[in-house]
Amino acid sequence: MSVHIFPAPDDLATATAAYIGGVINDAGRPVTLGLAGGGTPAATYQVLASLPVHWGRVTAWLGDERWVPHDHADSNTRMARQTLIDRVLCNFVAPDTAFGDPHEAATDYARALQNVFYGGRPDVVLLGIGDDGHTASLFPETDALASTDEAYLANWVAEKRSWRLTASVPLLWSARELIFLAQGPGKAEVLAEIIDNDKQYPAQQVAAGASQVRWMLDAAAAAKLRSIPH
Ligand code: 6PG
Repeated sequence: MSVHIFPAPDDLATATAAYIGGVINDAGRPVTLGLAGGGTPAATYQVLASLPVHWGRVTAWLGDERWVPHDHADSNTRMARQTLIDRVLCNFVAPDTAFGDPHEAATDYARALQNVFYGGRPDVVLLGIGDDGHTASLFPETDALASTDEAYLANWVAEKRSWRLTASVPLLWSARELIFLAQGPGKAEVLAEIIDNDKQYPAQQVAAGASQVRWMLDAAAAAKLRSIPH
């Protein structure tokens, strides 16, 4: 595990975009890129879209999606398309949220992803983290956390009173690299509890089983860290 801290959100976005672009350009083969949803990654995607990257070898996918139409303001597909995909025109496999049943949509998406993962494993996956320690749509005390044999799941999130589609813990563990991206003082407490104290949050559970983990933080998010693992 490595922790990388940057002065301000713009520096974080620039550094994260440069790192992802380098992973893609150094791969020398088709690469899959798992995209995080929410608000934080948009700035990184906008920088990434401006870099000289071999997009022809990239297939992007989503680590999680809200159960809304793709043109909905809350849609991660919409955010990813607006900030990155429609600018770089790489392959993009998004979950179909027009299904009547989120479980069917999750199973269908898992099947589609298995056809694109190199060697059956995701390459690099970008993840966000909530102040409650969730990552992707693996929220505390939700059923999806217990799944051991599915790659992608429909997860009822009571606090949001909505379904989410999410990569499972085992799928994220199988990735060649996970990048956790977090910024702002609102994430400082949970990051210190996870990185310094290994507190059992979903993001900690995912990080603990992964083969390579990189934390990309701005100074505000890292403000409460005691130790900085390298
Ligand atoms: C989502 C996410 C989620 C997100 C965190 C952090 O669909 O919301 O994938 O896991 O990464 O909630 O969100 P912010 O970046 O908006 O703080």
